[in-house]
Amino acid sequence: MNAFYHETVVDVRHWTESLFSFTTTRDPGFRFQNGQFTMLGLEVDGRPLLRAYSMASANHESFLEFFSIKVPDGPLTSRLQHIGRGDAIVVGRKATGTLIVDNLLPGSRLLLLSTGTGLAPFASVIKDPDVYERFETIVLVHGCREISELSYGERLIKDLRKDELFGPLLEDKLHYYPTVTREPFRNRGRITDLITSEKLFNDCGLPPLDGATDRVMLCGSPAMLTDLRAIFEQRGFVEGSHSAPGQFVIEKAFVER
Ligand code: A2P
Repeated sequence: MNAFYHETVVDVRHWTESLFSFTTTRDPGFRFQNGQFTMLGLEVDGRPLLRAYSMASANHESFLEFFSIKVPDGPLTSRLQHIGRGDAIVVGRKATGTLIVDNLLPGSRLLLLSTGTGLAPFASVIKDPDVYERFETIVLVHGCREISELSYGERLIKDLRKDELFGPLLEDKLHYYPTVTREPFRNRGRITDLITSEKLFNDCGLPPLDGATDRVMLCGSPAMLTDLRAIFEQRGFVEGSHSAPGQFVIEKAFVER
């Protein structure tokens, strides 16, 4: 178990019947870049049962936060959804992942496009003061089927707007665009359609997509990633990586339905 830290659950919040988030203690030695993920889980019969989880907390924070779905009959999440304060959690020592600003070329607008729990890495990214230094405008889109699934993100933004440091940064730079597909809401539609129709930019009062200055991070369901990748590649965006930064980066939201 040397590859792992043993942390303790500090708080658990259930957002819907299928979504919850939790915070844990953080070993001071655990280093990560905002947007990265690690392996996380429970010790079951003396063995770690793990899945990849993005940190939803930022690397300057003293605790760790994670945002998860409850997969019916999922080996880990069927157990993890019952954790409570004081319970033990196993956290991998090695953080990794592509959704980091260093994998993007310099630009002026950062589009963070997510569905479902794909929001998690962006919860970390928007709590990174360096991101507000690098980009003039940040657009955070969170697409879900139903309004109730937006609640974690709505709360995150509400809290950040009240924060002494981040309140003014959000006011100046961040456009938060929650959208749902299966019930009436002020913003409706799939992210793919919102991009191709330019409705996203029109609704935010922003200029249209521009490969010269826009940088994009994508995280969510595999189908959404496939379709958005095609849309951006058609427009000449090149995928970035650790070895060669580009105009967009992709990661799937890990624990699936
Ligand atoms: P829709 O309700 O039209 O399927 P899921 O819960 O299945 O992961 O979906 C989360 C959100 O992602 C839903 O709003 C869903 O819309 C949307 N979505 C699913 N597939 C795609 C896709 N290929 N492109 C864009 N959005 C998608």
